[in-house]
Order: sequence, then C-alpha cells, then structure tokens
Amino acid sequence: MLPAYLPNPIAALCGGGAPIDGGRLYRDGRRFFGDGKTWRGLFAGILAGVAAGVLQIWAAGTYGISMLPQQTLLSVALLSVGALLGDLAKSFFKRRLGKERGAKWPIADQYDLVAGAFLLLLVFNPAWLFSEVTLPVFICILIITPLLHRVTNIIGYFLKVKEVPW
Ligand code: CTP
Ligand code: MG
Repeated sequence: MLPAYLPNPIAALCGGGAPIDGGRLYRDGRRFFGDGKTWRGLFAGILAGVAAGVLQIWAAGTYGISMLPQQTLLSVALLSVGALLGDLAKSFFKRRLGKERGAKWPIADQYDLVAGAFLLLLVFNPAWLFSEVTLPVFICILIITPLLHRVTNIIGYFLKVKEVPW
C-alpha cells in the first residue's frame, strides 16, 4: 500500500499554488474541489508514490522479498494515481454536501484513497488485485489505514504542514 499511502502526505508537504478546479464553481455555487486540491500536490504526490513503488520492485528483486505483494509498474501507478483521484473525488462530494475545505468527514476522509486505488485496480488490473490483495491483506488494510491516517495527520499538524489535525 506504500504507493497509495505516500501521495497524500507528500501532497500536503508539497501542495499549494494553482487549484485543480481553477477556482471554478459547480452549479450549486460552491467550488468543484476547493483550494485544498492543487496541481502541484497532485503531481508531487503521484510521483512520490510511483517512486516508492519502483523502489519496492527493485528491493523485492534484489533482496528476494517474496512475502509482500509483488508490485508491477502498473500496480504501482494505479495505487498512486488512484489514491489521489479518490481524494479528489471525495473533495468533490464533500463540497456538494456544503462542507468547507478541511472540514471533517469521517470514513470518507480515511478511506478515499483505498476506494480510489482499488477502483482503478479493479478496472485496469483486476488480476493483480485479486491475486495480491487477499482477504487477510484487505482486512489489514482496513484496520491500518485509519490508524496511519490519524497518526500522519497529527504529525502534519504539529509540523504546521496541515491546518487541522485530521
Ligand atoms: N493537497 C494538495 N493537492 C492535492 C491534495 C492535497 O495541494 N491534490 C494539499 C493541500 O494543501 C491540502 C493538504 O494537502 O490542504 C491536505 O489534504 P486534504 O486533507 O486532502 O485536503 P483538505 O484541505 O482537508 O481539503 P478537503 O476538505 O477537500 O479534503
Ligand atoms: Mg482533509
């Protein structure tokens, strides 16, 4: 999951600048995504996730690590792109509900990246998804994700990278 977990904190670290929606409003009069979704965050995050995945592929080959799911360039790209597309989609629906940037939205805030990453895998690489993400692996992901989310956001808040600790 590293290629899916890394993009969000890296986007928070490197994000800023032009928002993806260019400031445009949806027909409900609210922003499409809001100022929290920027091009720089998107590209830096995806790049970091792919870099982590490429490192995993290299490490698995070099050190013969076989108990971890075997990444491929495609799985790495889908995990990383899917994570931030999931985050973006969540922000779209968050704005439709009238929630401001940074507002809390339990469950969605934690699992957006998992939903995005797995949806892309399901569509573009289902063979990898079903062979590598077995039921125990999936259950672990469901448990670990909100814990990691909480811990990294608290760290991000104290490092003044995030404006809110969630
Ligand atoms: N970020 C970014 N570009 C992205 C995703 C995130 O620049 N595509 C940066 C923004 O600075 C954002 C921070 O990472 O404020 C934290 O991300 P997140 O919590 O997802 O955004 P929020 O500001 O909480 O906005 P939202 O309410 O839409 O989730
Ligand atoms: Mg948020």
